[in-house]
Amino acid sequence: MSEARIVVDPDFRVGEVDPRIYGTFVEHLGRCVYTGIYEPGHPTADGDGFRRDVADLTRELGVPIVRYPGGNFVSGYRWEDGIGPRDQRPARLELAWHSVESNDVGTDEFCKWVRGVGSEAMLAVNLGTRGPDAAARLVEYCNHPAGTYWSDLRRKNGAADPHDVRVWCLGNEMDGPWQIGHKTAEEYGRLATETAKAMRLVDPTIELVACGSSNSQMPTFGSWEATVLEHTYDVVDYVSLHTYYQERKGDKASFLACAVDMDNFIDNVIATADFVRAKGRHQKRVNLSFDEWNVWYMGGDDKTQGWQAAPRLIEDTYNVTDAVVVGNLLISLLRHADRVKMACLAQLVNAIGAIRSEPGGPSWRQTIFHPFALTSRYGRGTVLRTVATSPSYDTSWFGGVPALDSVAVESPDGSGLTVFAVNRLIDESLPLTVDLRGYPDLEVAVHTYLTDDDSAATNTAENPERVTPRQAAASKVDAGSLSLSLPAQSWNMIRIGKTAGRSMS
Ligand code: AHR
Repeated sequence: MSEARIVVDPDFRVGEVDPRIYGTFVEHLGRCVYTGIYEPGHPTADGDGFRRDVADLTRELGVPIVRYPGGNFVSGYRWEDGIGPRDQRPARLELAWHSVESNDVGTDEFCKWVRGVGSEAMLAVNLGTRGPDAAARLVEYCNHPAGTYWSDLRRKNGAADPHDVRVWCLGNEMDGPWQIGHKTAEEYGRLATETAKAMRLVDPTIELVACGSSNSQMPTFGSWEATVLEHTYDVVDYVSLHTYYQERKGDKASFLACAVDMDNFIDNVIATADFVRAKGRHQKRVNLSFDEWNVWYMGGDDKTQGWQAAPRLIEDTYNVTDAVVVGNLLISLLRHADRVKMACLAQLVNAIGAIRSEPGGPSWRQTIFHPFALTSRYGRGTVLRTVATSPSYDTSWFGGVPALDSVAVESPDGSGLTVFAVNRLIDESLPLTVDLRGYPDLEVAVHTYLTDDDSAATNTAENPERVTPRQAAASKVDAGSLSLSLPAQSWNMIRIGKTAGRSMS
């Protein structure tokens, strides 16, 4: 295999990384909330019933924003059920995931928890079965200081200070026929506009996300975004994107390249948003909120367990290949730092979660946790527009694709660079040269990578550290050029700095 090469030049910049691209998602789905983040009686539970072990892992994952409470769940949710004294909250049939919802956790508990893990809330409002009134009252409940029915009720319920929620999603996947209260683009566009108007009348400082398509394979993809944005352009700040990938029929070569699809999806939504901007003679740009993405092996255990509280739903166990793909999808998000301003790994715990937890038992990091946590920690600063050359290989999904995918991020203080790179080749390592012509001061590189001889290896309760990142010996930059080898089917992080000065830990 011939070698790959990346040229990095500080003059060519894509944009600043908005840390909110490292968000995640907590939905009332399966065991994400109950026995995930919340489990009174667990040995690690805090005074509010939240698991300290899961909170610690959430902090380590590095998630500046957390979407809540759904997802499909939100389209049948009455937020008023989840406030006030617990013994007066109603248990309800939860229709989206065919479960029983106790309402033991609601807006106040979530907002307190999210602050405690050093993050902020992104709340979704129900535009399936409800509308402007319920949404505006929820903004009032959360953000109005005091002196009105809803704000005083929040204070009575224990939150003296406003929750001050900045980002709000106007419904969830309203283009999907499975969604409770599914709508046409026209219907949703009108409802989202009027809801946004009412919410902003309560708090003009909030940021709003309009629903884009549930994925790029939806029959209405493209026209949905165009119609919705023609209605909402003046009142929203972002349009959402959702996507999930999985290996199908053993076609690992295609699966490893699915960031190609994410790139195309993002580019097409940018084009559509900018088309509406041009057509409407708008000044501002609507940016992108990729507020659901992950690997998800769909079609298994959903909705088959009867009416239960916190059933084991979609508890995918991720392997090494899945972690490489998740790392590559993060590279795609970073590459679009100029327009993708928020993104949420779906989800945080148990339900397609980066973290797994057992009731009364341990919690641990899934394989996908590792590339996410490291990218969130070191992928801050300015994304550079790199030029890459790479050998390619054939896939049945995308035709020929490059074996290498990569992105370079200059640290916020300009003292170093981090290159994130994936070798998509299943069986061959890939020699890589990084041309650092514009960075004469950089001298040493530390190479962290995630791979395994067994690409099906997973982390389990019994063996939670089976798959973890490894570190190669530090290498020297030689005459402005760095040479290393990316293992077969691997995610890599190469931190390049000065010998003295920049901490490489
Ligand atoms: O994240 C799981 C589900 O996937 C969400 O509830 C829904 O929005 C999407 O289809």
